[in-house]
Amino acid sequence: MERQPVSCGENPRQYRARILIFLPGVVLLLFGLTVVCQGVATLDRLKIVEAERDRWQRPDDVAQALALHEGSVVVDLGSGAGYFALKLSRTVGSRGEVIAVDIRRLPLAFLRIRALLQRRWNLRIVRSEPNDPHLPLGSVDAILIANTYHELNNRRMILARAFQALRSGGRLVIVDRGPEEATEGDAAGGHHELPLAMAESDLLEAGFDLVSRAGRFIDRPPDEPWWLVAVRKP
Ligand SMILES: C[S@@+](CC[C@H](N)C(=O)[O-])C[C@H]1O[C@@H](n2cnc3c(N)ncnc32)[C@H](O)[C@@H]1O
Repeated sequence: MERQPVSCGENPRQYRARILIFLPGVVLLLFGLTVVCQGVATLDRLKIVEAERDRWQRPDDVAQALALHEGSVVVDLGSGAGYFALKLSRTVGSRGEVIAVDIRRLPLAFLRIRALLQRRWNLRIVRSEPNDPHLPLGSVDAILIANTYHELNNRRMILARAFQALRSGGRLVIVDRGPEEATEGDAAGGHHELPLAMAESDLLEAGFDLVSRAGRFIDRPPDEPWWLVAVRKP
């Protein structure tokens, strides 16, 4: 007597269709896992880099220059992944607000995740345009531009927006790297170092009053020194 082949109830066409659905699912899952792993690795790296940065960046003195208190509204313009924004969020407390502004999506995505993980509900994240940081008008107590001023393409425009955003008496603090005085060849942009004198003259031209300046706010030879300038809106 002839034996019948055992059937599993599925014809070859159904089997192929199942594989065609299953394979993209596996690829998608692997892709998702890779993205999550890379994200976790970046978060870990940020933690290490920032702990090292705490030893020389003087974040408490930067916050002090901003004259913040509980309930202040402060902008971190060019926040990146939020080294300063997360610290300032603690300084201004739950009644205050930190508006973290950047033109790039990726660092802002990491800041969003870190803010969630650290339960910082007073952090507002804004993706801005290169010449418009999308700031509220006349209501901000302080603005920080840290390690970012040298990257701005249209500094005059950004300073005008910052001026409009601040309340009267509000502070703007810029921290960046470069010599105290401008030398020949220090064009208005391009490279990483920017002289303090150049920023100071931009700020006075924009209508701010000088509060304080430190040409060697951070001095770590052989690197260029970091300077800090604090101004206020009259
Ligand atoms: C070197 S990072 C500094 C980040 C952060 N302030 C810190 O100290 O860790 C400079 C940041 O400025 C941002 N940036 C550059 N031009 C900008 C602009 N016109 N408006 C807002 N952010 C800007 C960049 O996307 C980048 O995240």
